[in-house]
Amino acid sequence: MAIRTDRPTTGRFTAGRLRTDLRTIRHMAFPRVTGSTPAERMESYYRSAATDYDAFRERLLHGRRDLMRLLPARPGSHLVDMGAGTGSNIAHLDDRRRAEYRRITLVDVSASMLAVARHRVARSGWHNVETVHASATDYRPEDGPADVVMFSYALTMMPDWFAAVDHARAILRPGGTLAVCDFYVSRKHPGRGARHAAWRRHLWPAWFGHNDVFLSPDHLPYLRARFTAVHEEERLAPVPYLPARVPYYLFVGTRD
Ligand SMILES: C[S@@+](CC[C@H](N)C(=O)[O-])C[C@H]1O[C@@H](n2cnc3c(N)ncnc32)[C@H](O)[C@@H]1O
Repeated sequence: MAIRTDRPTTGRFTAGRLRTDLRTIRHMAFPRVTGSTPAERMESYYRSAATDYDAFRERLLHGRRDLMRLLPARPGSHLVDMGAGTGSNIAHLDDRRRAEYRRITLVDVSASMLAVARHRVARSGWHNVETVHASATDYRPEDGPADVVMFSYALTMMPDWFAAVDHARAILRPGGTLAVCDFYVSRKHPGRGARHAAWRRHLWPAWFGHNDVFLSPDHLPYLRARFTAVHEEERLAPVPYLPARVPYYLFVGTRD
């Protein structure tokens, strides 16, 4: 199966960007992860890195704009972004589509990441966007089921990712949409879709695991089992400063 390979995201190279990149690379090479719960560990990881997050991730986390374009356009809906981080995905929605949502909820366990998101929301004047400090396995909209739940590069940071997927299903209305993009590796013998070379299946989980990002061969099969797929893509993305490409997927499915 031919896998689409993305081009590097470039942009202007400046001294400021180089400084931010060096800080980010140092943080990734020597991550500080402390705490006894997943939420404490996430906050400890992002506390010193939240303000630099967007600059580097813009070139590392591919497919996010495409995912936002794939969300169903239905005025008056409630979109829940689980593990929303700095809220950058909401900036990837075009203005008209963003304004059509009745409510957009950014859920995250990291107070530092949510502080950046809150600043973005206030600066941008997005009156229908709120931030909620909660886990993706707990958050429940108080005004009834959500229309769309999304995870962008968040499931790989959730040890109980299957519980987060099940919870998303539980808070979605029947016919509601789940949208996910994330890094992954294929199974050695995938039933369908791409089969990654052995070096990819071994290298990337070890590489990202150093930063508590756990690439799994089971995300896509589980998503397919729990939702009716309406859009699926498996792609390869460049990694800044590295000569290798990392696999990621886009999945959009509906709840029966
Ligand atoms: C790699 S970042 C992705 C952020 C954003 N979605 C993006 O695409 O840039 C992963 C985010 O998931 C959050 N996270 C990890 N575990 C979580 C959980 N159980 N519940 C909610 N958020 C979680 C982290 O705090 C972090 O902000």
